Amino acid sequence: MATILVTGGAGYIGSHTLIEILENTHHEVISVDNFSNSSAKAYDRVAGICPRPFKRVDVDLCHRHEMAAALDACGKIDAIIHFAAFKSVPDSMKDPVRYYDNNLGSLQNILYYAAQKGIRHFIFSSSCSVYGNAAALPVTEATPMLAAESAYGHTKQVGEEIIRFFSKAHTSFQAVLLRYFNPVGAHKSGLHGEMPVTRPNNLVPIITQTAVGKNALMVFGNDYPTRDGSCVRDYIHVTDIADAHIQAVEYLLAGKSKQPVELYNLGTGNGVSVLEAIHSFEKMAGMKLPYTMGPRRDGDVIAVYADNTKARKELGWNPRFSLDDMMLSAWRWQQELERTGQSVSFL
Ligand code: NAD
Ligand code: WQD
Repeated sequence: MATILVTGGAGYIGSHTLIEILENTHHEVISVDNFSNSSAKAYDRVAGICPRPFKRVDVDLCHRHEMAAALDACGKIDAIIHFAAFKSVPDSMKDPVRYYDNNLGSLQNILYYAAQKGIRHFIFSSSCSVYGNAAALPVTEATPMLAAESAYGHTKQVGEEIIRFFSKAHTSFQAVLLRYFNPVGAHKSGLHGEMPVTRPNNLVPIITQTAVGKNALMVFGNDYPTRDGSCVRDYIHVTDIADAHIQAVEYLLAGKSKQPVELYNLGTGNGVSVLEAIHSFEKMAGMKLPYTMGPRRDGDVIAVYADNTKARKELGWNPRFSLDDMMLSAWRWQQELERTGQSVSFL
């Protein structure tokens, strides 16, 4: 049994990962969050689904000394899963310094802490955005990174590099960089899911909010060179993403990693167009979704989907959920928000 520190554990992917670790392993969990893009209510929902306790530390990871003092009080840590970051592409273009400060500051502080305490195992949330408009699809881990399209994407590229240099200086340190494609969906219970604090930019929350009359979906571009003219992405269930973190932790704890820094794509490998995603939602929700066709969105790549062979082979990761499962779970969560009066209108 190990103790795992999860940063950003109140966030969308972090909280789903807490549930999977608590339900499916014997590991102890410490979650750190400052609720800059989440709420402590996420912890209540996690506890409602899985009653096994976890420690909670409410601190800003950018405050190095405060963070270290709070973590010191938690005892020995064996592995860190570092989710905490800001993640909005358009916000990062409006205020890049805020993104560099938070995403790189928090990473540097947590690595500093890892070095001080001799914590050797580290998992980092990276993103398919590091590939940009890749020339060949599907993208493998060997596909070269292109110049980042956004300050957010750049923080992930630089974050990966910081970890590589850190590992050269601390030779017993081992990291796994996980490049998520498009995580969507909600917990199978229907009792927990994504809870954007501000207006979402991502497709699936906009779809479910549109279905309840609280947002207006526009398809950004129908003249792309794809099978139906809309952009193609690799949507992956958030619980499959969460499971990959458990497999990555076990892989590191078991000493299976051959490299100081390993890299894995986390996607299903299926390219899905925006219109196909909408049709899957319509099928699962049993309704027609109102939407309009609009111009292309700045910075969108035409198509990106993963070759996930490496994660399957080396981590033993097998994404279980279909696009229909993703849409149904997201819809059930939106209905839960309606039922409990927590849903917000973005019209
Ligand atoms: P999220 O915003 O829901 O969760 C991030 C959490 O980190 C939030 O709870 C936030 O309050 C916390 N946080 C941020 N800065 C902090 C700080 N300085 N100190 C303490 N807590 C802090 O985002 P998410 O969708 O769960 O994403 C998790 C990670 O995965 C991020 O690193 C993100 O960049 C990455 N990622 C997300 C996606 C996606 O589409 N959701 C795709 C690829 C990569
Ligand atoms: C998906 C598709 C849109 C909204 C972003 C980040 C990436 C990663 C995942 C963090 C696109 C279309 C969307 C709408 C639409 N995040 N769309 N109408 O842009 O693929 O990826 O989130 O690391 O780094 O860039 O995700 O959900 O915003 O868009 O037509 O109202 O849906 O054009 O084709 P994206 P998304």
